[in-house]
Amino acid sequence: MAKFLVQKCDPLHGEIHISGAKNAILPLMAAAILTEDHCVISDVPELKDVTVMEKILESLGGKIHTPEESILDIDMSGLKTNVADYELVRKMRASFFIMGPLLGRTGRAKVHMPGGCTIGARPIDLHLKGFKALGAEVIVKDYYVEAIAPPEGLTGAAVYLDFPSVGATENIMMAAVCATGTTYIINAAEEPEIVDLANFLNKMGARVKGAGTDNIKIEGVESLHGAEHTVIPDRIETGTFMLAAAITRGQVLITNVVPDHIKPITAKLRECGVIVEVSDEGLYVIADQNELTATNIKTLPYPGFPTDIQSPFMAFLTTVEGASTVIETVFENRFMHVAELNRMGANIRIDGNKAMIQGGKKLEGAQVIATDLRAGAALALAGLVADGTTEISEIYHIERGYDNFISKFKSLGANILRIDD
Ligand code: UD1
Repeated sequence: MAKFLVQKCDPLHGEIHISGAKNAILPLMAAAILTEDHCVISDVPELKDVTVMEKILESLGGKIHTPEESILDIDMSGLKTNVADYELVRKMRASFFIMGPLLGRTGRAKVHMPGGCTIGARPIDLHLKGFKALGAEVIVKDYYVEAIAPPEGLTGAAVYLDFPSVGATENIMMAAVCATGTTYIINAAEEPEIVDLANFLNKMGARVKGAGTDNIKIEGVESLHGAEHTVIPDRIETGTFMLAAAITRGQVLITNVVPDHIKPITAKLRECGVIVEVSDEGLYVIADQNELTATNIKTLPYPGFPTDIQSPFMAFLTTVEGASTVIETVFENRFMHVAELNRMGANIRIDGNKAMIQGGKKLEGAQVIATDLRAGAALALAGLVADGTTEISEIYHIERGYDNFISKFKSLGANILRIDD
């Protein structure tokens, strides 16, 4: 199994360009199922999850080619099945995104239940609630979910989400764009990736309004056509590099950023004394000017503090003098990185969904496990300031979701090596 070896480094300096967003590209690729025309998507990040989604689309009969680096041309005219391959689907929870567009285009979809994940149970009840509200019969049997539209097709409806789930909002949007009549998603998720998907669907001829608010209106249209689209920058990758600058007390210019998308991260870093300046060039993160102080964070659906930045932020808080608390409200089991950070010398106690950090402890390199994607990033950040070598295993999690993780960090002066064990 491959590992990362992270050495303590000097403060990071330099400029880094942010890639297209992982959480935007996956539903965009799934949305291409909705048309027989070509869809061309630019600024596609180089990620294992994107490769898995490509394979899933190909297994359904799609043809994908890369006319240029970071551009995908997706042609789903040859769609031959609405049953997704189990081996591919089980690799990635986001593969469940194909359910909505398959149901929308063919009236039927059969997909293996997405596996549970270490960060929580991650049910799909809200996705299914949406499909049922649109008139589909939903059968869950032998770990497969099958949704079947009635002979007259799906019909628009009002769907109330008990929690503003990102995936459910996206899946229901994709199922509803070609339904008869109007669909309302009430208490919808408001994440920028949802706005990006709505923009793409609208370029394809859909009529989606209100994306980015908690009430999305979708007027069904007959069919969709091909479109071209550029993926929004990855706000979680942005946050990770902001924290890399902060934890090493460095200075980094981050380009290809939408400052509005990262407001809670900016606000919290500023509370700690980190200077974050927005300019025409990008985002300057300057952490070598002020004494940094502790703060408290609480994860929430957007525009609240993102759960995906909780673990990298916690790694940073371990290096700041004073007591901080971190409350996780989105996923029920997202503190797996705490035990690993403590193995590196951090002092973090957990009480339910609250972590209490006594900061300012000296971190020491250790053998640690990347228990999930963002936990892996948090450990790499901790490794940048820990004495000695930090050996991170199960790095496939990190490679699933960060584009050129090592080379980007190295370009800022980090010393990270990938080894095959
Ligand atoms: C997406 C992101 C992930 C991020 C998360 C929250 C992608 C590919 N992934 O995941 O990086 O951490 O949003 O910002 O975009 N829930 C239910 N029933 C459902 C669906 C969700 O109870 O049917 C619960 C989940 O268990 C979780 C919460 O809702 O506690 C949030 O999940 P959700 O917003 O759906 O996250 P994902 O779309 O899986």
